[in-house]
Amino acid sequence: MKERGFTRIGFILAAAGSAVGLGNIWKFPYVTGEYGGGAFVLIYLATLALVGLPLLLAEMTTGSLSRKEPVSAYEDLSPEGKRYWRFAGLKLFTGFLILTFYTVVIGWIFYYLFISLTHLPATPEEATALFMGMLQEDASTQIFFHAMAMLIIGAIVYRGVKAGIERINLVLMPALIGLLLFLFFYAMGLEAFGEAVAFMFAADFSRLSGEAVMVAVGQAFFSLSIGMAVLMTYGAFVDKKTRLPGAALTVGAMDTAIALIAGVVIFAFLFQLGMEPAQSVGMAFISLPAAFYQFGAAGHLLAAVFFLALAFAGITSAISILEPSVAHLNQRYRMNRAKATWGTVLVAYLLGLLVLLSNLKGFEWLSLGERNLFSWFDFLTAAVFLPLGGLLMAIFVGFITDRERYFHQLHEHGLSRSAFNLWIAALRYMVPLGVVGAIAAKVLGLI
Ligand code: PFF
Repeated sequence: MKERGFTRIGFILAAAGSAVGLGNIWKFPYVTGEYGGGAFVLIYLATLALVGLPLLLAEMTTGSLSRKEPVSAYEDLSPEGKRYWRFAGLKLFTGFLILTFYTVVIGWIFYYLFISLTHLPATPEEATALFMGMLQEDASTQIFFHAMAMLIIGAIVYRGVKAGIERINLVLMPALIGLLLFLFFYAMGLEAFGEAVAFMFAADFSRLSGEAVMVAVGQAFFSLSIGMAVLMTYGAFVDKKTRLPGAALTVGAMDTAIALIAGVVIFAFLFQLGMEPAQSVGMAFISLPAAFYQFGAAGHLLAAVFFLALAFAGITSAISILEPSVAHLNQRYRMNRAKATWGTVLVAYLLGLLVLLSNLKGFEWLSLGERNLFSWFDFLTAAVFLPLGGLLMAIFVGFITDRERYFHQLHEHGLSRSAFNLWIAALRYMVPLGVVGAIAAKVLGLI
């Protein structure tokens, strides 16, 4: 049974919906903070152009050439008798693993949406106690909101690409942009706005380091949703009239613009109250709620808008991570869509439950070495599997498959021969360089 595909705008918003996620609003600002602001932003932009965008285009084009789910797409485009496609399963597995912990975080966001409206913490100490209390002691709250996240995501994906994924993105993406712009305009009125902009854009090159470059590569992969067949899967449903190079650029630009806006907003609120750019989860779930509290009644509204934006960003990304597995089961094993969706959701839910429990006191047995399950899944996917998935894509298009087919397709979409050659060169040399460096840096514990 052939599913109906995306419209042009539907494809762009769905791909942007996948890219714009918790990585933009929650992760990008804090890594920027940690690695020195403007200098990091510059490296990130360079990485995006040299490694991120070429891969984004490779994934979209591969999907659109085969019009099949990811494993079959690799199989179709492999030279006769070669079995490279067997590696494609790794990508589906990576997406599945990300889904398990990503939905746990979406659960926290739902809970904080509720907190925003009821009882914001008054001080950073109170905020820390609230977050750590939820994380390490409050199983039932987390289980409730995590289940809610899974149900919402399943309910969207099971309706299909057009009636589910496209439709929700057409609503949530403009809403997300509206919410962020609201926060941005509010932040513009704060005294610390200028300081926040300076922090994000004034490049201090003395802080430039090899490590920062590697973090930028990892962040670009995660943020653009590359390396796990998500954009391949969406690409398989693309409308014939969609021009892929333009689509890839638009998605990359939207993803970056939203990360930058989120960064300025977050730093403006933190600096306004004299707070430091905090680290990791701390920024969204600890520092910011305490900062919002200081704004009195308006603070509740600001917090609710912020967490609603995070929820929208998270949901549109999570559905994109679920879709490849569903498309795989549906197309390759002829499982009907409802069964494929709810089956995958159930397994991801159960595994996610273990991930969730691994943060709780009393569940130390869900740890191995220094890391618990949550941290292992996060580390393995972001540090190892995602870059490997990207490398696989780059090698496949750069060296293995019939490149003339790609040229033919992209030429029809307006790409010149020399731009095409540049693109292939980026896939052959820049991507492997970036990936090997990124993996080495992460595994060696630099990040
Ligand atoms: N790009 C998303 C973000 O920045 O949060 C996360 C993500 C979505 C990663 C989809 C991977 C993916 F396949």
